[in-house]
Amino acid sequence: AAIKKYQFDVQVKNVSRLCHAKPIVTVNGGFPGPTIYVREGDRLQINVTNHAQYNMSIHWHGLKQYRNGWADGPAYVTQCPIQTGSSYTYDFNVTGQRGTLWWHAHILWLRATVYGAIVIMPKQGTPFPFPQPYRETEIILGEWWNVDVETFVNKANSLGLPPNSSDAHTINGKPGPLFPCSEKHTFAMEVEQGKTYLLRIINAALNDELFFCIAGHNLTVVEVDAVYTKPFTTQAILIAPGQTTNVLVKANQASGRYFMAARPFMDAPVPVDNKTATAILQYQGVLNTILPSLPQLPNPNDTSFALSYNKKLRSLNTPNFPANVPLKVDRKLFYTIGFGKESCPSCINGTRFVASLNNISFEMPQVGLLQAHYFNLKGVFKTDFPDRPSTPFNYTGAPLTANLGTSTGTRLSKIAFNSTVELVLQDTNLLTVESHPFHLHGYNFFVVGTGIGNFDPAKDPAKYNLVDPVERNTVGVPTGGWTAIRFRADNPGVWFMHCHLELHTGWGLKMAFVVEDGPGLDLSISGRRSRSYGETILPDLG
Ligand code: C2O
Repeated sequence: AAIKKYQFDVQVKNVSRLCHAKPIVTVNGGFPGPTIYVREGDRLQINVTNHAQYNMSIHWHGLKQYRNGWADGPAYVTQCPIQTGSSYTYDFNVTGQRGTLWWHAHILWLRATVYGAIVIMPKQGTPFPFPQPYRETEIILGEWWNVDVETFVNKANSLGLPPNSSDAHTINGKPGPLFPCSEKHTFAMEVEQGKTYLLRIINAALNDELFFCIAGHNLTVVEVDAVYTKPFTTQAILIAPGQTTNVLVKANQASGRYFMAARPFMDAPVPVDNKTATAILQYQGVLNTILPSLPQLPNPNDTSFALSYNKKLRSLNTPNFPANVPLKVDRKLFYTIGFGKESCPSCINGTRFVASLNNISFEMPQVGLLQAHYFNLKGVFKTDFPDRPSTPFNYTGAPLTANLGTSTGTRLSKIAFNSTVELVLQDTNLLTVESHPFHLHGYNFFVVGTGIGNFDPAKDPAKYNLVDPVERNTVGVPTGGWTAIRFRADNPGVWFMHCHLELHTGWGLKMAFVVEDGPGLDLSISGRRSRSYGETILPDLG
């Protein structure tokens, strides 16, 4: 195994899109930032030096960071942010994973522009479980705001802005030729007739779940969130913020230019979207002047497409890539997802939106939770996050008048080492129903069941898929429905779990698990220091 080193210089750069130029925060001046290439088994050392005016941290989304939460990256969860002018080295092994993941800033809304791909190749000599593609490329979906995103956050945190508040969607940082001043901000990919290409698609958008398709070409899904799936062919994919999807595309047309397109799936009542991002797939030798054919995307509110698409996602579940679904559950958790409003004298309208799990809106601490946990710092967090709501109610009945009370707190849930956990995430009609992509740090989980309406503990578990459910790190909880996940808590540390819509995270739709220490974890101070746990981030114990 090799040690691969990267230098990430966080720096402000002027970028123009949609006829607007503005300074944005970047890594090494790129938008998107650099792609990290590694092989399964390699060790990564990424030195991040912060030259921007914002304190920040970077998260390696989907990397399990086995017994190494110090390198996970969410600010105030596993580290204090990297101050302007300072550096921090993320040092971790890429073990037992191969495929597409990504990295992004993990503080405020800085991930709007600070993100990039992580490509993990299988070990030398280990082929893909699908035909070797001729070439591959990353397709990173994102959003563009004409205004400064960080000043926009305050507004977003107090006013109930719709999720799709950006000015354009982007493909590899570019909105494509349907937008003004964007001819030259168009991603184009050249293909040779008859060859097969691997597209590593990443949804880095802040707030929108997206459909993606290519005119005239089918997509064969082979992997999600760096886990191989049973291949299936589809005209379009659906991808939530945080998720990755690898697809094979065969250049099986005679010739021509074709649009790739991405636009939101919106099943909540939100305004019509006119921010479709496009890019171009172009056959070798075709003139640039030939107009591309328009793509056929599902309708923005096509819930039945979404349900049937998600049903097709299955683990590969072969002897080489087994789906080790926990069959017996040690700990059952049931979390409701809800919205509310609370008074806020300093906010624009005197109130602010809150979002909560089991009616608890998460408050970020002032020091890293992982540090507080290992150094046993009192008063930073409690471990009394309830396993279920205090009073069950008709979660998706409308309109709801009871159960609106929300409290705020830094409350975590303690999980025994190596226990098996089932978590049912239940959307509610508190204020409004909406879909939520939930991301768990430090783990993959199996999506054993999902449904519309209220979860029924008497009937629904009988319908679980415990054979080949999809394994991933981010899953969409459907609007007005529920999703059940299972995982084995074999990775000690403090692990964040949150909605990957930045708007909702900002309103408090997040919490963290403390997974207790199992045998073999070195708890001595020197042991901890050897884990790239720099002296500079020691909390002030005095
Ligand atoms: Cu992709 Cu906690 O984030």
